[in-house]
Amino acid sequence: MCGIVGILGRGPVVGQLVASLERLEYRGYDSAGVATLEGLRIERRRAEGKLRNLAERLHRQPLSGHIGIGHTRWATHGRPTERNAHPHATENVAVVHNGIIENFRELRAELEQNGAHFSSETDTEVVAHLVESYLMNGYSPQHAVQASVLRLHGAFALVFLFKGHDDLLIGARKGSPLAIGHGNGETYLGSDAIALAPLTDSIAYLEDGDWAVLTRTTCVIHDADGTIVHRETSKSGASSLLVDKANYRHFMAKEIHEQPMVAGQTLAHYVDIGAERVALPLTLPFNFNSIQRISITACGTASYAGYIAKYWFERLARLPVEIDVASEFRYREAPLRKGDLAIVISQSGETADTLAALRYAKSQGLHTISVVNVQTSTIARESESVLPTLAGPEIGVASTKAFICQLVVMAALALAAGKERDKLHEIDESKLVRELIEVPRLIAAALLIEPQIEKLARHVAKSSDVLYLGRGTSAPLAMEGALKLKEISYIHSEGYAAGELKHGPIALIDETVPVVVIAPYDAVFGKTVSNMQEVAARGGNIILITDAKGASEATVDTLMTIVMPDMGGSFTPMVYAIPVQLLAYHTAVVMGTDVDQPRNLAKSVTVE
Ligand code: F6R
Repeated sequence: MCGIVGILGRGPVVGQLVASLERLEYRGYDSAGVATLEGLRIERRRAEGKLRNLAERLHRQPLSGHIGIGHTRWATHGRPTERNAHPHATENVAVVHNGIIENFRELRAELEQNGAHFSSETDTEVVAHLVESYLMNGYSPQHAVQASVLRLHGAFALVFLFKGHDDLLIGARKGSPLAIGHGNGETYLGSDAIALAPLTDSIAYLEDGDWAVLTRTTCVIHDADGTIVHRETSKSGASSLLVDKANYRHFMAKEIHEQPMVAGQTLAHYVDIGAERVALPLTLPFNFNSIQRISITACGTASYAGYIAKYWFERLARLPVEIDVASEFRYREAPLRKGDLAIVISQSGETADTLAALRYAKSQGLHTISVVNVQTSTIARESESVLPTLAGPEIGVASTKAFICQLVVMAALALAAGKERDKLHEIDESKLVRELIEVPRLIAAALLIEPQIEKLARHVAKSSDVLYLGRGTSAPLAMEGALKLKEISYIHSEGYAAGELKHGPIALIDETVPVVVIAPYDAVFGKTVSNMQEVAARGGNIILITDAKGASEATVDTLMTIVMPDMGGSFTPMVYAIPVQLLAYHTAVVMGTDVDQPRNLAKSVTVE
């Protein structure tokens, strides 16, 4: 998953390329590079690591071309070195790529046999050599790209720059997103509308198999068969302002603290607060009474939002739910019933596996709903109904506010399903909606425990393993807590349903292992206390997250008890997520890791 951009400008483009790459850095930050035409010659500048390294390189060795391409990389094939940084180039063509060329080994062997010399370990470099080979055989740039793309297997968005052609960029897409921007005497290509937002808000999206030939004033799009096609240009809602950290040290901290506001915004979109009724913003094209089973698919944090929602749909709407991580679902060939419902959850709306799951569900005749944060994303555009999360741009790689908003949307949808299926009477609906309406205030109250968590983080930072336990909806939240901690602090952590402890994980427990127990005082609290006793008996250090009643009833010694605000029992994960997020955040700060851009990760995962 990389970010790509191309600009046909009226003046020097390198500043605009870097500005666009800055907006694409969420897609990867292993290396960055640009190529421009200087005179009619291709010139490249590339640098390992973050974009600022490229900016420094450009300061020392400036470029002044009026046409160029740029790339920010999340390494798939080949280490994150300068040699492997894009653009990759031959004598006559330079290319930037997002995706994976699956048959690159065969192509490379063939090209090497014909005399090509490779200088990187990447899959992408074969694309440059392939196009070059066609150019050498007398093909025009356009025909060389068309012929090359037909030979590529895998997923790609590509942008090509050609030596000697200062009014030509070619873009091609299969599997990975690519947008075209129209400016005033300028045209652009980019991974998304966000990257192009400072340049234009007139955006068209290429569809799978499309390739586009751009000059400064024209844009001709062909589909996979080579037929010229029209793709609608519309006004993008992406903001041209680069989101800043306000007074926070990290985006993640800012995003955690924005949660009362964004949860409130999302909530107001899905419930009629005055009437205490659920009120979805659209009419769904099916009735929940005709649905026999819901299939929820997502990755990572979004999948934990799905796991939590499973409890809500089953309890409130008496509807069975299957939940899969998207990377498994797509290959499992799950038997699905035509007319049932598939829900995909995604912050970015571009996650490759989640998108594939959506397409699979559609191909099986299911109704599809996407719960997405980026409304211009591929997943949003391809699903039958879109339920937006109104979290605003999430920049920190570790998802926080999008997760909370996903929970809000899923809770509202479960309520709507329960109501339509007559499983939820008006009186229960208003009680549950009242509980939901309280959530933003309760999140704000939960944020007040931050100083206590900061202290705890200094202890957790000394550990090499941490366990998270919970029952009911706290079980998937335990998994989310473990994911959050490991991805930004690099401390090994695991989340389990508390009842599973004695089936294996208990072997891990000794006095060096903190065990975070998420246990609001609810119907299963007593059972969780028994599990805590099993931990205490083995010298484990318990960190209990509970409410006042739970704190007084827990008969176990803890290292720390974090007392959460009192709340109704139905939607506790939306509030109990706060200490879990804060603990991961402050532990990472103590460890000195790169909180917003942790190693090896990227915000948007557009490869399998
Ligand atoms: C973890 C995290 C990831 C994402 C996952 C899915 O903090 O952010 O696990 O949740 O990569 O991404 P989206 O939601 O964009 O599909």
